[in-house]
Amino acid sequence: MSELIQVEVRDDVTVISLTNPPVNALSQAVCRAVFSAVEDAARADDVCAIIITGAGKTFSGGADISEFGSLQQSTSDSEFPIHSMINGIENCSKPVIAAIHGNALGGGLETAIGCHYRIAVADARVGFPEVNLGLIPGAMGTQRLPRLCGLPKAAEICASGEMIPARVAHELGIIDRITDGDLLDDAHEYARELVGMGDAPRKTSEITDRLGDIAENAIALEQLRKVVSKRARGQESPFRCIEAVEAAGQGSFEDGSQNEFRIFAECLQSTQSQGLIHAFFGERAVSKVPGITKDTPRRPVDSAAVIGAGTMGGGITMAYVNAGIPVIIKEVSQEQLEKGIERIRQTYGISVKRGRMAEADVDRKMTMITGTTDYARISDADIIVEAAFEGMDLKKQIFGELDRIAKPGAILASNTSTLDIDAIAAVTGRPESVIGHHFFSPANVMKLLEMVRGKETADDVIATSMDLAKRLRKVGVLVGNCFGFVGNRMFWPYQREAQFVLEEGATVAQVDNAHLQFGMAMGPHAVSDLSGIDVFWRINQEIKDTIPIGMRQPLVSDRLYELGHYGQKIGAGWYRYEGRNAIPDPEVQQLIESCAAEAGIARRDVSDEEIIERTMFSMANEGALILQEGIAMRSVDIDIVYLYGYGFPAWRGGPMKYADTVGLKKVYDRICYYREAHGFWWEPAPLLRELAESGGTFSGWSAS
Ligand code: COA
Repeated sequence: MSELIQVEVRDDVTVISLTNPPVNALSQAVCRAVFSAVEDAARADDVCAIIITGAGKTFSGGADISEFGSLQQSTSDSEFPIHSMINGIENCSKPVIAAIHGNALGGGLETAIGCHYRIAVADARVGFPEVNLGLIPGAMGTQRLPRLCGLPKAAEICASGEMIPARVAHELGIIDRITDGDLLDDAHEYARELVGMGDAPRKTSEITDRLGDIAENAIALEQLRKVVSKRARGQESPFRCIEAVEAAGQGSFEDGSQNEFRIFAECLQSTQSQGLIHAFFGERAVSKVPGITKDTPRRPVDSAAVIGAGTMGGGITMAYVNAGIPVIIKEVSQEQLEKGIERIRQTYGISVKRGRMAEADVDRKMTMITGTTDYARISDADIIVEAAFEGMDLKKQIFGELDRIAKPGAILASNTSTLDIDAIAAVTGRPESVIGHHFFSPANVMKLLEMVRGKETADDVIATSMDLAKRLRKVGVLVGNCFGFVGNRMFWPYQREAQFVLEEGATVAQVDNAHLQFGMAMGPHAVSDLSGIDVFWRINQEIKDTIPIGMRQPLVSDRLYELGHYGQKIGAGWYRYEGRNAIPDPEVQQLIESCAAEAGIARRDVSDEEIIERTMFSMANEGALILQEGIAMRSVDIDIVYLYGYGFPAWRGGPMKYADTVGLKKVYDRICYYREAHGFWWEPAPLLRELAESGGTFSGWSAS
C-alpha cells in the first residue's frame, strides 16, 4: 500500500482514500497508486464496488501543479499517469463511485467524472480552475463534462474557472446524489443499491444524449466568447477552453480528447500559463516570512481604531468590520467624523442595491463602527491604523499622540504610501510596535496589503500583521523601508516615463491604450486622474529636494495641478470627464506641446513598443535595485504587489516575471540603449547587469 493513498475493504466495497495533504493533489505517484489499487480491487473476488474519496478536508485540489514544469516536454497523453488512472477507473468492470467533500477541482473533478457515479456532501464544490493557470482541463475533462451537463454549460464552467456548489452541480447532472449524512456511509449504501440493481458501470465517455446540436452549440459558444472577451482581456486560456469543449460536440470522444491534449500542451508551453502559475505559487509564497513561524508569538487583535475618516480611513474601517473586528474612528472634527461614517453607510448601501448585502447586514456592520474626536477614547484599541494625509509632519504629530495614549502592546500601524516608517516610529517610545500597513484604494476592495517593516519592528508585530492580512481577506506582502517601499517606488519610474514619452511626441490616449493592450487594468494617466493629480503633487513635494539638480523631471503634471486639473473627482485631469467617461482634452495636448517646446524637446513619433519598454523596463530596473537593497525579499514579492495593488495582468506574472520572460539580457541591452538616449535615469542596476551577463533570472535569484 502506498502512503499517498489508503485502501480499505469495508464489507465488500474497496475504499481508496487519497492521502496527499494538504489538498490531495494528484501527483504522478498518487495517480499510479490509485490506478494500481483500482486494478487490484477489480481483480478481487470479494469486492463488488469501489469508492474513491479524499482523506482530510477535501476530495482533491487537482493535478499537482508543481509537476507541470517537468511535463512541458511530454508529447503524448499516454505519458500522463492521470490519463491512465482515469481511463483505468472508467474501464473498471465494477462500479466506481466518487465520494466528494471539500473540493473536487481540476484533475480532481476529472477523476470524479471518470468514475461511474458521484455522491457529494452539500457544501462540497466542484470546478475547473485550470483557466486561472493559463491552461485548460487536460485529462479529458473538456470531453466528459459536456456529456454530463451539455456543451454550453461545460464551456462556461471551463472558461470561468468558477467553483460550483454541489447542489448546483447536482441540478446540472454533474453529481448524481447529494447527502446531508455521513459521506462514506451513504456512498456505501449507494454502492450496494447499484450492485443490488445490477447496474453496470456507466461510462461518462459513452454518454451522447446531452451533447446537443452542433449549430445551436455554435450560437451559444459564440455568445460565451463575447462575454469572455470582456471579462478576460488579453488572456488566451478561456478561449482555448471553449475551443476544446466545442470539439466534444463535433466528433468522437477519442478525437476530442486528442484535440484537448494538443491544446493543453500548447497552453502549458505558453508564457501566459508560466506567468499565472508563478502568480499562484507567488501568492502563497509571500505569506512565508523567513524567521516568522507558527510559534512566533502573536498579539491579540479584537478591536481597532482608525485615524481619519477620509476615503482611505473609511475603506480600512470597512475591511476591519467585514472581518468582524469593531472599529472606532478618530477624526479632528465632529462634522468630518459624521461625514466619513455617512460615506461608509452609503458605500454599504451600494452593495445592498447591487444585491450583494442585506439591509440587516448593513445595520449590524454599522453598529460595529463608533466615532470620536478624542484620542483618549481609542486608548484601548489592540491596533491603531493611521490613515491621515500623506505628510511627514502630520504623521509625526499623530504618532506622538498615539504613543501617549495607546495601551502597552497595541500595534501602531501607518497607512503611509511612501514615507519613512523609521522616522515615524522614532517619535514614539515604542518603535518595535510600529509598522506600515499600506492599503490600496478602495481599501475595502483591493486585495493588496503592503506591510512595511521598520528597523525595530518586532517579530510578533510582523507575525500578527501577516495573520491579520488573511483575516482582512488581503494578500499581505512584507517589504522593507525606503521611499515608496516596493509599490510606489517602482510606480515612480513607470509614471515618469509615461510622462516623458508624452513630451517626446506620444498622446495621453496612445500611452494609456498601449498599456491597456499590454493588459494593465488602466493606463498610467487614467490612474493618475483616479488617484488625484493633487495627491501625486503632494508626494512630489516630499521628495523634490532629494532629486539631484539638473535631472530631467516630468513637466506637465505640476502644470496640471496649478491649473486645478486634479483628476476625475473634479472632471478634469489628463482627460476631461463626462461622468466616468474619459475624453481626450485638446487643451492638455496643447499644454504638453508647449511644455515640450519650452524645454527644447523635439517631438517625434513614439511607437507603442517604445512606450511599453520605457515604462516596463524602467520599473524592472528599479525592482532590481529594490531586490539588491533587500527591500523586497524575493522577486515574487514585487510581482504580487503589482498583481494585487496596481492592476498588472496576472497572466504576465508581474513586472519582474515579465522581464524574465522578455529575457534579462534584452532588458539590460535596451536599458543601456535608453541610457545613451536619455541619460542618468537609465543607469542599469548592478543586479540586472549581473543576471544579464550570467544568463540568470529574477525569479531564480536569491539574496544569499
Ligand atoms: N498542486 C500542487 N499544490 C497545490 C495544489 C495543486 N493542485 N493546490 C494547492 N496546492 C498547495 C498550495 O501551493 C499550498 O502550498 P503551501 O502550503 O506550500 O503554500 C497548499 O497546497 C495549500 O493551498 P492553499 O491554496 O493555501 O489552500 P486553500 O485551502 O486556501 O485552497 C484550493 C485550496 C485547492 C482551493 C486552492 O489551493 C486551489 O485553488 N488550488 C489550485 C486548484 C487548481 O488549479 N487545480 C487545477 C490544477 S490543473
